[in-house]
Amino acid sequence: SAKEVILTRHTGADAGILTLTLNRPKAKNALSRNLVKDFRAALEEIRFDNDARVVVLRSSVAGVFCAGADLKERAGMTPQEVSQFLHSMKMAFRELESLPQPTIAAIDGAALGGGFEMSLCCDLRVAGPRALLGLPETSLAIIPGAGGTLRLTKLIGPSQTKALVFTARRLGPFPAMAMGIVNDMVEHPECMDEGKPADQEAAYERALEWAREILPNGPVAVRMAKRAIDHASTVDPSTGLDVEQLCYAQVIPTEDRLEGLRAFKEKRKPIYKGC
Ligand code: HXC
Repeated sequence: SAKEVILTRHTGADAGILTLTLNRPKAKNALSRNLVKDFRAALEEIRFDNDARVVVLRSSVAGVFCAGADLKERAGMTPQEVSQFLHSMKMAFRELESLPQPTIAAIDGAALGGGFEMSLCCDLRVAGPRALLGLPETSLAIIPGAGGTLRLTKLIGPSQTKALVFTARRLGPFPAMAMGIVNDMVEHPECMDEGKPADQEAAYERALEWAREILPNGPVAVRMAKRAIDHASTVDPSTGLDVEQLCYAQVIPTEDRLEGLRAFKEKRKPIYKGC
């Protein structure tokens, strides 16, 4: 069967950018066993790819980022199969979150339940004009169960998280931006007037702009910064400072660090190799 997650390596000036595309149009990218399997395989490829510097996660489906857990597939599962599936979904999210490279979610449509939780595992989020983010679980008489209660609380605090979860409300790009859930948004373009197809490319193009801004910076430095910042919110301050010191120590012996100093002296742009 066709791959439900497509990994694309960009070339030329964009070499180092990888795009991961959720591609299950018939079910609005709902997270099925098969999609999660493809997703995890792609993440494993990215994790050990030394040439991968920035990852953009997007959807190929108009008007949808990801509709969350596949509610139909789930209806036919035994309780044990449900547990196994939820475990592999949560593992996938941990694997996404712990990628060494920076990750950017381009959201231009519904990102609901597990779909929203997936985007919370990315470092940055960009909303397109059709973005619709929400945790509808309480309306299904369940609660967010793939990290949503923790990751959203870390991002925007407990009270804002409760407001979203208790109401099951869906947020468009403006409120998502105002609440600090997304880092950037693309405004409603003229071409989105009634009856016109969804503009799936706008958020992706903006996400690529962010990727291109990250791309020229020291690859080891960017990875180490991610690691240090991720520890900052999970450990006590003294351990956090220790971790920062250890991450800093990783960049000291790199050739790139010397290149950075040389380029500064010679008033030119540095060219980093990632070592
Ligand atoms: C299975 C789904 C699905 C889902 C949509 N589809 N969402 N199938 N699981 N989560 C299917 C529909 O049944 C339909 O199939 C087809 O995709 C098209 O969907 P439509 O609703 O017709 O499309 P549209 O009107 O464009 O609306 C898109 C949508 C809406 C906004 C995404 O489908 C929607 O609200 N879906 C449910 C989203 C949701 O509640 N997610 C939370 C899941 S709970 P047919 O066969 O009719 O064409 C969750 C918890 C995870 O994620 C926690 C784990 C511990």
